[in-house]
Amino acid sequence: MRTNQLKASLRYLLATIVAGLLAACTADQDVEEATQAANTDHLSEPIVVYSSRKQHLIEPVFEQFTQQTGITVEYTTDKAGVLIERIKIEGQNTPADLLITVDAGNLGYAAAEGIFQAINSAVINETVAPHLRDEQDLWTGLSLRARTIVYSTERVKPDDLSTYQGLGESQWQGRLCLRTSKKVYNQSLVAMLIAEQGEVKAEQTVAAWIANLAISPTSNDTKVMQAIAAGQCDVGIVNTYYFGRLEAKNPDLPLALFWPNQSEAENSGVHVNVSGAGILKYSNNPDQARRLLEWLATEQAQALFAGLNKEYPVISHGAIDPQVSAWGAFKQSPLALSKAFQLQPAAVKLMDRVSYK
Ligand SMILES: [Fe+2]
Repeated sequence: MRTNQLKASLRYLLATIVAGLLAACTADQDVEEATQAANTDHLSEPIVVYSSRKQHLIEPVFEQFTQQTGITVEYTTDKAGVLIERIKIEGQNTPADLLITVDAGNLGYAAAEGIFQAINSAVINETVAPHLRDEQDLWTGLSLRARTIVYSTERVKPDDLSTYQGLGESQWQGRLCLRTSKKVYNQSLVAMLIAEQGEVKAEQTVAAWIANLAISPTSNDTKVMQAIAAGQCDVGIVNTYYFGRLEAKNPDLPLALFWPNQSEAENSGVHVNVSGAGILKYSNNPDQARRLLEWLATEQAQALFAGLNKEYPVISHGAIDPQVSAWGAFKQSPLALSKAFQLQPAAVKLMDRVSYK
């Protein structure tokens, strides 16, 4: 009873304060000014980003956004899994507005965990190709990387190469290096192989790769390339930006990229993946978060965001970094990257069945 009385008194007090405030702004002009001030306050709130993309790849981008819009961006970086757990634990109290992470497998996982809200942006829908966005509009790609074949220019002729499946041919016995199956990049690659070829053919392909391995799967993409350069194997599969980093350090490295599956067939093409982002379900500032995403899809922002990591833009006419552009143009797989998460359980089981460690 006392609680109810207290509530009633508080309501009366609040009503009195509000009435007083309203009386203070009698003229329309005053009300307008108050509204403007409130809007400006909202605009000046920083956007809070949780990012598994590293600091040196995002800070210059956010600085440029702030210069152009006056809106500051605060960010925290950590591993994708850690950030997604943190967002779940923080729930409605999360200070974050946006999650930036890499690989459609991770983005799909975040979406399935229910931490995103629909992006609802005509700008994103018009500028980012549909296969690089979530089918439910819960995340969008922000930069594109290919997971493609790398080969020794000393021991392999590009004419010997053709497709991902081709790496299972007998000519590559004891000559192939792969990264471990534990990495989401390979889980997504195999998931997209299943999407493209069906599970039976995809399993034959991956089993044939394992039969051709020169050494045990390595812990990262760079080690795959180092093993090829050192003569331990002759071909491998890596993300393009790792090649870009190694090439920038050592332009004379006897390695080159090859674009497989370039036939006219409908679903063929190089397997691509994205770094991307989603607006958090409990963002206090979804309009501002959307504004940042839309700005990131501009030509200028794309050149910076993708270029800093030797990646490709996700917009069709985006400028490509000169080093990246020198690797040549390729046809990319048109399959929706939402499948990378949907088919991830099947991919993991498949890799387990063929003893891909
Ligand atoms: Fe990576």
